[in-house]
Amino acid sequence: MGRAKKVVLAYSGGVDTSVCIPYLTHEWGVESVVALAVDLGQGAELDAIQAKGLTAGADQSLVKDATRELIEQYAFPAIQANALYENRYPLSTALARPLIAKMLVEVAEEVGADAVAHGCTGKGNDQVRFDVAIAALNPSLKVLAPAREWGMSREEAMAYGEKYGLTFPVKKSSPYSIDLNILGRSAEAGILEDPWAEPPEEVYALTKAVADTPDEPAYLEISFERGVPVALNGDRLGPVQLFEQLNAIAGEHGVGRIDMLENRLVGIKSREIYETPALLALITAHRDLESLTLTKDVTQYKVGVEQTYSQLVYNGLWFSPLREALDAFIVKTQERVTGVVRMRLHKGQAVCVGRKSDCSIYSESLATYSEGDVFDHRAAEGFIYVWGLPTRVWSRGQS
Ligand code: ARG
Repeated sequence: MGRAKKVVLAYSGGVDTSVCIPYLTHEWGVESVVALAVDLGQGAELDAIQAKGLTAGADQSLVKDATRELIEQYAFPAIQANALYENRYPLSTALARPLIAKMLVEVAEEVGADAVAHGCTGKGNDQVRFDVAIAALNPSLKVLAPAREWGMSREEAMAYGEKYGLTFPVKKSSPYSIDLNILGRSAEAGILEDPWAEPPEEVYALTKAVADTPDEPAYLEISFERGVPVALNGDRLGPVQLFEQLNAIAGEHGVGRIDMLENRLVGIKSREIYETPALLALITAHRDLESLTLTKDVTQYKVGVEQTYSQLVYNGLWFSPLREALDAFIVKTQERVTGVVRMRLHKGQAVCVGRKSDCSIYSESLATYSEGDVFDHRAAEGFIYVWGLPTRVWSRGQS
């Protein structure tokens, strides 16, 4: 008796998920493997991946495009939440996992599978995100993670695959572990495991080194409606086009490189290099527009919500009552986050240099130090008397 009869496998075409196919079949007695490759704008050769799934022994090899859904249903809420894990990582990998899990579950239900599978190892966050998301969506499905149990090195895994007719291109394989989708690229392992070592330029793929970026800055206007980016330089764009164009221009100016040590859910500290040109520029612009359109108390309260939100996305709780409740709060705050932010992209930085909105609650006549000031300076005196009263009483008590 095998562990499952029919399994839908999250398939990338890489070594690990390819080896999973014969492994599930021959070691775990799975009768039928359905490979599912999800297109998330990673620019992979999906036809080749589809064919490879069949060569590896899958009964069915499916490809589904979910790039737009990734942006609309996952990235846009995260932008509205200004979501940055540990204040830095815009969750480009973490946001994709619940979507892949959802698609695995949908296909499993369609084809009548009793299990789903993924190629994650036992050390990362991604296994947690998959397992928990799948459990949230269909707790009756088994989740198989061969690479968590097989205990093979990469070389051993390749040798195992070759036994079953898999071939791996001889190209010197990259020492890095890469995850890529339209939201960004994550790289770890190899020399990056030494936190003192500066990342070699070869680690990067979406962004230029500052030394190679144009000397002239680029100016860019990003329009938002209710906290969602809808146009670049006045051109209304669909979400995929918007991300593609912004990734290209921000990447050209070296924007969106992040070199950080982060705290994984599983307790390990790891060093990761991220490139998230569009996503980081959008969060920066979005937060700036909020500063023009949200009240002081909502702005400040929301910071705590944003931190909780980032942590729960990172920790695999996308499909959870807390995320839904926080999203309800966040969406409410976005009702007036409509307007335009002007950014300057230059030498690795995306800086907001202007913002405007019909919903602005900035008042120049209150703020001005020039003519036309309407602020009642005398009123400040009374305000400070009351505000400072406890301080004066306390101070007297000290002497
Ligand atoms: N550390 C990131 C996260 O937990 C990315 C994980 C995948 N990274 C990779 N290089 N394969 O979201």
